[in-house]
Amino acid sequence: MTSYYNGFPQSDRDEAINMINLDELEERAKEVMPEGAYYYIASGSENEWTWRNNTAAFNHFQIVPRALTNMDSPQLDTEFMGMKLKTPVMISPIACHGIAHKDAEVATQKGAAAAGALFTSSTYANKSVEDIAAAAPNAPRFFQLYLSKDWDFNKMVFDAVKKAGYSGILLTVDALVSGFREANLRTKFAYPVPLDFFTRYQGAKGEGQTVAQMYASSAQKIGPEDIKRIKEMSGLPVFVKGVVCAEDAFLAMGAGADGIYVTNHGGREIDCGPATIDMLPEIAKAVDHRVPIIFDSGVRRGSHVFKALALGADLVGIGRPYLYGLALGGAKGVQSVIEQLNQELLIDMQLTGCKTIADIKHARLTHFNYTADNLKSNTDPSRITPYPVTNDNQLKEEDSATDAVSGASQE
Ligand code: FNR
Ligand code: LAC
Repeated sequence: MTSYYNGFPQSDRDEAINMINLDELEERAKEVMPEGAYYYIASGSENEWTWRNNTAAFNHFQIVPRALTNMDSPQLDTEFMGMKLKTPVMISPIACHGIAHKDAEVATQKGAAAAGALFTSSTYANKSVEDIAAAAPNAPRFFQLYLSKDWDFNKMVFDAVKKAGYSGILLTVDALVSGFREANLRTKFAYPVPLDFFTRYQGAKGEGQTVAQMYASSAQKIGPEDIKRIKEMSGLPVFVKGVVCAEDAFLAMGAGADGIYVTNHGGREIDCGPATIDMLPEIAKAVDHRVPIIFDSGVRRGSHVFKALALGADLVGIGRPYLYGLALGGAKGVQSVIEQLNQELLIDMQLTGCKTIADIKHARLTHFNYTADNLKSNTDPSRITPYPVTNDNQLKEEDSATDAVSGASQE
């Protein structure tokens, strides 16, 4: 079924998604989203070199299996800034969830809460921070800030966010202008659904902002003193989102940042920059456990989550995959995406003897260089061809008492 906002089609699904892997959703999402909205999400900037390498670069690190560890039943629970979470997978902030679903961020928050994951809301959300909070009152949530040039706007945002019970701010510093996103130019994309904070502040002018208008109203000039000012004005802990090198991590911590968020905006800003996973070790070394680290960009597998944790992250965010999940299954679809990563991560934990998320931080990775390591798996939709049917290769039905995915016996 589909709803419409001023003629723009919005999914109104609420169902778990059957999937083999997250990559599959990238294709399937096209079925429920118009072209401009889809490519606003799916694309990166310029040649999309960074966007592609964000995922490919996870292959630069390998997970060393451990066998004789006498361990079973690994657990995903973790604590972050005093919040009890059921998974280290986090919902990264994304603007305008209304391009994926009629219930927008309210549905995403419900799905994240059902999975026990930290939800983070963008300044450019369609739904109000109050409505999002009301969707899952006891769930943990952070707020992502696009600092405005207008400090009255900033103050209005801080007051609303604090009152609605958000427990931290992610200050985005890597998107001072938009990356050169050719897909948006091609489709002439503008946000088709109004963004709450703009409507609230500017009345009717909040209707249908373009990406360029939004970036123009946010600050192009951000420095360490802004971190201090935001902390003082908001009274909330501030993470700096968009750190990709040790120098910025030092500056952020020097200004009193409560955490570092390592990301290159999913390859949507500067193209030809390094993949975030390659920069995580130098940042983790600079931070040296003084403040927590959030990591994202290119995460599509439980093994990617594992590697980021092993290299120093405390939480690992996902962006595009959950928005595809939202379009294909609403709140339950978001939950399915998180659970898919959880399921893969649990397998990696069992096979490395890591009982807890804290154990992963001591897991051993190697850093060998393999050539031709970017081949697609046999389950990748682009590689699947019809399988031959013969008299000799057909199954007969049999009972099975094992988990079809992991092979672990069921008790
Ligand atoms: C984003 N991202 C983002 N970041 C932010 O701080 N505020 C925002 O409003 C948005 N909006 C946004 C929209 C869309 C459509 C995408 C895909 C991304 C960046 C986001 O938080 C995150 O860093 C990346 O999405 C992570 O990369 P992956 O997981 O999408 O590869
Ligand atoms: C984006 C913004 C809004 O990446 O962060 O589109």
